[in-house]
Amino acid sequence: MDFATDAAVPLLAQTVGPLLAWYRENGRDLPWRTEPSPYRVWVSEIMLQQTRIGAVLPYFDRFMTAFPDIAALAAASDEQLLKSWEGLGYYRRVRNLRAAARLVLARFGGELPSAREDLLTLPGIGDYTAGAIASIAFGRPEPAVDGNVMRVTARLLDCHADVTRPALRETVRRQWAQVWPSSEAGMFTQALMELGEVRCLPHGTPVCQQCPCRDICRSRAAGTALELPYRAAAKERPVEERTFLLLVSGGKIALCQRPENGLLGGMWEFPSAPGLLDAAGAARLLRSWGAVHAVPVPVGTARHLFTHREWRMTGYLAVLPDRTGDWVWGTPQDLKERYALPAACHFFRDRLAAFLAEPEQQSCNPGE
Ligand code: ADE
Repeated sequence: MDFATDAAVPLLAQTVGPLLAWYRENGRDLPWRTEPSPYRVWVSEIMLQQTRIGAVLPYFDRFMTAFPDIAALAAASDEQLLKSWEGLGYYRRVRNLRAAARLVLARFGGELPSAREDLLTLPGIGDYTAGAIASIAFGRPEPAVDGNVMRVTARLLDCHADVTRPALRETVRRQWAQVWPSSEAGMFTQALMELGEVRCLPHGTPVCQQCPCRDICRSRAAGTALELPYRAAAKERPVEERTFLLLVSGGKIALCQRPENGLLGGMWEFPSAPGLLDAAGAARLLRSWGAVHAVPVPVGTARHLFTHREWRMTGYLAVLPDRTGDWVWGTPQDLKERYALPAACHFFRDRLAAFLAEPEQQSCNPGE
C-alpha cells in the first residue's frame, strides 16, 4: 500500500491503542523520559540524531551536569562545548545547540518555544526534531518522523516505495498527523520510536512475535518485513587517505585545529598530510617540517566512516628533540580534558597513550 493513499490512514489509526498500551508496559526508563523538561528533551533529541541510545546515555548525563540549563549552554566556550561532545560525532549538532540556546535567550525569553513553527526557526531543529520536542516536551499532537518511523510505517503498510526520497517523509508525517492522539501525543511519539528500536528492528530480524502491531502489520502478513524499508542503492562514499604524525617532544604532543567551517569544524587532530605515506614518505614529510633527524615509526592503520565519506588512515610516531613547527603542544592531560579529538583520531590517540605509558615497550623505538 502506498504511503500517500487514503487507505493508509485507518490502518495507522489502528496502531494507536495497542502501541500506547504496549509502551506503558514496556517503555524503557531513559533519563530524558523520567525527567522530561523541555531542555532535557531538546538536548536528548539532538544527541539521538544519527546516534544510538547506548552511545548517548553517558554523554547525556555529563552534558546536563556541565550545562544544566539553556543559559549555561549559551555561555559555553568552544572548548567546553566540543569536549562535551568528543566522540559522539556530527559536531555541528553541538554548535547549533549553543547557537539555538543563544537565540532562545534573545528571542523567546529563555524558554524553549512549544510551537513546531517556532522550533523550526532554531538551528539544528528540523522537521523530525521539532515534532519530537513539540509532542514529548509540550504534549502537542505533532508527529516526529525519522528513519525509524519510516521503517515502521513502510512495514505496517507493506509499502515498497524508496524511503530515501526526501519528499516521502512529509507525506508520511501528514498521514500520521491525522491519527496522532492529542491526549497522549508525547507518549505516542516515544511509543513509535520505541517500537522501531526494540521490535521493528533495522538490522537483523524484527521481533514480530512480540510486536503490539503484529495483527495490523501488512508486511508481516505478506512476509515482506525483511525486505522493507526499500532503499534505492546508496552512492558509494568517496575515500580520503591521510597520514597522521604523532609528534612527541618532552612529553608533549603536537596538535592542530581544524578550520571552523566544514567537516569536524574546530576539532583538534594530529598533524597530517594527504595520502597513505610509507616510512620514507613520512620521513620526507618530517624533514619538510624541519624535523631533520626524527625517525617515523609506524603505529598502524585505521578506517573511519562518516555519513558522506570514508577516511583511510595510517600513522607514524616520531620523537622530536625540540618543539618545532606551527603546532599547539599539549600534555596527555590536555588531550583528555581540553582538546576535543574526533572519533576518527581515537585509534591514534590510543596508540600514543600506550607509547607514553611505556615508551620502551613499544615497537615505536626507532632502534628496533
Ligand atoms: N530516538 C529519538 N528520540 C528518542 C527518544 N526520545 N527515545 C528513544 N529513542 C529515541
